[in-house]
Amino acid sequence: MKLTRREFTKATLGAAALTVAGPAALADGHELIKRPIPSSGEMIPIVGLGTNRYGVATKAERAPLKEALARFHALGGTVIDTAPMYRNSETVLGDLIEELGIRDDLFIATKADKEEGQEATRAQMESSYGKLKTDLFELMQVHNLRGWQAALPLMQEWKDAGRIRHIGITTSRSSQYEEFEKVMRQEELDFIQVNYSLEQRESAERLLPLAADRGIAVMINRGFGGGRIFDKVGDQPLPEWASEFADSWAQFLLKYALSHPAATVAIPGMTKARHVDDNIGAAKGRMPDADERKKMESFYAGL
Ligand SMILES: NC(=O)c1ccc[n+]([C@@H]2O[C@H](COP(=O)([O-])OP(=O)(O)OC[C@H]3O[C@@H](n4cnc5c(N)ncnc54)[C@H](OP(=O)(O)O)[C@@H]3O)[C@@H](O)[C@H]2O)c1
Repeated sequence: MKLTRREFTKATLGAAALTVAGPAALADGHELIKRPIPSSGEMIPIVGLGTNRYGVATKAERAPLKEALARFHALGGTVIDTAPMYRNSETVLGDLIEELGIRDDLFIATKADKEEGQEATRAQMESSYGKLKTDLFELMQVHNLRGWQAALPLMQEWKDAGRIRHIGITTSRSSQYEEFEKVMRQEELDFIQVNYSLEQRESAERLLPLAADRGIAVMINRGFGGGRIFDKVGDQPLPEWASEFADSWAQFLLKYALSHPAATVAIPGMTKARHVDDNIGAAKGRMPDADERKKMESFYAGL
């Protein structure tokens, strides 16, 4: 008998879950906060897994990734973001997901990035199904808007045919925001994926409010500025007032991004199980309110 994710989590974690989450994380019990994808109504946990560092060559390098992925699943995580551009990340993930037997519990997002036209996009997407060993993608995105004019109609066609559940576009560069906004206005998108963090807040000026207006789900990338923000906070302790909602800097940073009213899910890159434990804590307990968000911004500006 196959256990559901919830039954599996209960059966395997038990007291272990208590040891990885601190008081703020446990404030609302163990259930992860979920939010709806506006276009489909599907509920997804608000912390997912970014895998741009999953493109590894050796079995030894795969071991910690498998541990991180298993931990992510055991703690209730479902949303995984990958891309053909991340070296062989799709292949590694496909293998690890199969070894762990967890495909049915996941919400897999990948991307297409071909600028040569529909045939190239078609071939690339077919190849992603093979690498990830699946016949359905929960989300297919145009990576950095590359070839979006040809790719989006094809993605829509495959969505209509039931091979893709949601479609979207991604960026992590403010130099693309103008074109990104144009595509958001003229196309029917289920998701955008965009960078948003205490360090880089520009997407909150136009893109995030537009997503909220148009009922587009928002997947947030680079919530730690690629890891740079940790260097900035260094080893200083969290401010006292932040212990109301965060037990670590990672939770502080993710909860800043996730408390934006347009945010649906954040996908921190994590290759270590201990980072999964920490970051999943940001999907629990309460979010900072509007005043606390301002305080977080002033605090960060003073670092
Ligand atoms: N245009 C696009 O479509 C686009 C662009 C950029 C990113 N993305 C997606 O977004 C994801 C996230 O972006 P990113 O990985 O570049 O940057 P990020 O999530 O801002 O930062 C990832 C870095 O933070 C570290 N980290 C994670 N959790 C931590 C914790 N609790 N404590 C301390 N350090 C922690 C990671 O270390 P470990 O790896 O050692 O765990 C990694 O070095 C990517 O993986 C990718 O899926 C998409």
